[in-house]
Amino acid sequence: MTLDEKVGQLVQRAGGRSKSLNSRLDDAELERVRAGTVGSYLHVAGAEPLARLQKVAVEESRLGIPLLFAMDVVHGYRTIFPVPLAMAATWAPEAEEHAARIAAEEATSAGLHWTFAPMIDIARDPRWGRIVEGAGEDPYLGARMAVAQVNGFQGGNSLRPGSLMATAKHFGAYGAAIGGRDYNTADLSERTLQEVYLPPFYAASRAGAGSFMAAFNDIAGVPTTANRELLRGTLRERWGWQGLLVSDWGAIGELLNHGVTEDRKGAALLALDASVDMDMIGGVYADDLKDAIAKDPARLKLLDEAVLRILRVKEQLGLFDKPLAYNDVEREARELLSPEHREAARAIARQSIVLLKNNGLLPLDPTKLKSIAVIGALTTDGMSSLGSWRAQGKAEDVVTVLKGITAAVPKLKITSAPGADPRNTETSGIAAAVKLARAADVTILMVGEDYDLSGEARSRSTLELPPSQLELARQVLATGKPVVILLANGRPLALTELSEKAPAILETWMLGIESGDAIADVLFGKYSPAGRLPAAFPRTSAAVPFNYSANATGRPADPDLSKDTVRYHDLPITPLYPFGHGLSYTEFRYSELAQSTQSVGPDERIDISITVENAGSVSSDEVVQLYVRDPVASIARPVLELRGFKRVEIGAGQKKRVTFSLTPEQFAFWSARGQWLVEAGRIDFWIGASSADLRAKGSFEISKTHLGTAPAAALPTRVTVSNN
Ligand code: NOJ
Repeated sequence: MTLDEKVGQLVQRAGGRSKSLNSRLDDAELERVRAGTVGSYLHVAGAEPLARLQKVAVEESRLGIPLLFAMDVVHGYRTIFPVPLAMAATWAPEAEEHAARIAAEEATSAGLHWTFAPMIDIARDPRWGRIVEGAGEDPYLGARMAVAQVNGFQGGNSLRPGSLMATAKHFGAYGAAIGGRDYNTADLSERTLQEVYLPPFYAASRAGAGSFMAAFNDIAGVPTTANRELLRGTLRERWGWQGLLVSDWGAIGELLNHGVTEDRKGAALLALDASVDMDMIGGVYADDLKDAIAKDPARLKLLDEAVLRILRVKEQLGLFDKPLAYNDVEREARELLSPEHREAARAIARQSIVLLKNNGLLPLDPTKLKSIAVIGALTTDGMSSLGSWRAQGKAEDVVTVLKGITAAVPKLKITSAPGADPRNTETSGIAAAVKLARAADVTILMVGEDYDLSGEARSRSTLELPPSQLELARQVLATGKPVVILLANGRPLALTELSEKAPAILETWMLGIESGDAIADVLFGKYSPAGRLPAAFPRTSAAVPFNYSANATGRPADPDLSKDTVRYHDLPITPLYPFGHGLSYTEFRYSELAQSTQSVGPDERIDISITVENAGSVSSDEVVQLYVRDPVASIARPVLELRGFKRVEIGAGQKKRVTFSLTPEQFAFWSARGQWLVEAGRIDFWIGASSADLRAKGSFEISKTHLGTAPAAALPTRVTVSNN
């Protein structure tokens, strides 16, 4: 390969803007491909147009190297599933894997080889708009969801012909942006980085994610795109991951804005040194890398390694043998939006719904109702059901809330009105909505955020409902009639007033194309809700960040205000809705806690079992959660950490026995010496229904101090379920 051809492999260009795919694929672009100066395109799609482009690469360029086609296929390609935060609320990695598999089936039939997903950044500040794209606040839950998505996208635990290559992003602490302002600096301890932000990435690397994306932001002054220690050191050398590392959009050029280099040549060298293989659209490698390394044999070696890593994934995807294998027009027509895909979207949307509060109003019994008022601009807003990152999703594919309810109860009189729209402060429509609410037996009121209020560059300082939505809710609730609140949102919201006034609240996020059907299934009792919050909901905007898994302090928070403890004086010490919270249409009882041993040695396991009984009259899922604490260690440890969970279906009156099996390595912490350390001593554990609803407690000893090998939260707890 010539130097130009090598550099060409490192270049990713945009085939269009995210909303006008392929629009830039003109003659000049084809010339670049012929000249071998492009390695990959993003924002492209379609079996047929991409086949044409690929043919130019393999038939008309000197070396015939195939191109890689990429897109942000985040929660579906054409069949759009719930936003990732909502899918995390399923606490069902198998469901998330299934959704990713379907997204991959559709995307790979449409010419795509590579998705920029999963987004696995831990997010503990809901002001950050991108919390919607991830699995929320917890590294253990996050790691499980990361692995599920990598397996789903790639179709197993390695990259193979036909895989949709997954991208673990945005490595390493993008979610820790100070103040939740997108792209902002992260300034965190090495321990927090290792124990909280990196575990999902470690898990994704072990699951064989073919690619990683470096975050836009810096950690303590080191921009990640130039972070040699983190990218080359931790990710490649210590974790042994050898996949394709791509920059974020233009991020190599942004090294100038960070102020760590004077010119683009310097930026190119910093990124190459850090082992960033591909330059996403920035053109810095394309324009400035060649001169910068031409005379530097050491740098030439780094370039060769980057080229090899890119060629290797092209080879693993089977593109050298069958460059057009992803371009089957008939398969594309068959796959997109197939009835099975729609059915799966409905099932996972139902699983994502979280019942936050219920005074007995839900489920609604249609045989006892004559009329329903469906209120809220979001009940007819297909785009907002799709949420952030829609790939090829279309608003007209969406079963909106109004449509779903109308179809579910065709004999009832349904009236509807927008009331108010979150996009503006207009409240003149509220009076008409209130009139309908007064006249109806029951009102279903959807309030919240539209799709454009969360996502990239959509950080917000207020977590309260948009003003027009709050006003609409106040006036409808003031009728005193039965009102079910449906929340639409891509982040935890501060809902204190609503939670006090509303009889029932369903968290329905942005549930994708089957939103309305799924919501109707839950409203009318066809399905008992069992989603659980993957991030706590605060009482006010100013109460964030708040995390259940905070370190123990010298003055633990106490409800008694006469004591001086770690809390706000003007707020209760708990969040409004805690991590792991969610109700159902039944009651579960926990009993018969048992453990296999009192003491665990380095290569041993402990099994912890509990019986869960559905004491109500409807079948439902329960999410059984295992929390742990290391009460005495050489450093202060979190007061509670999730270390296991299982979503399990239990019939009315039935019991299931759930067993968690753990190793001492899952209790390792990042020691002052920069190692994973398992300290001998007592471990306390609790099993419960949320981080604030712990039902049974036990403890055991770790018998011997020893070194661990991996981030503790990345290691999976084995869970088995048996009939009891
Ligand atoms: C910027 C975003 O940060 C990243 O997540 C995304 O994959 C790229 N744009 C490409 O769309």
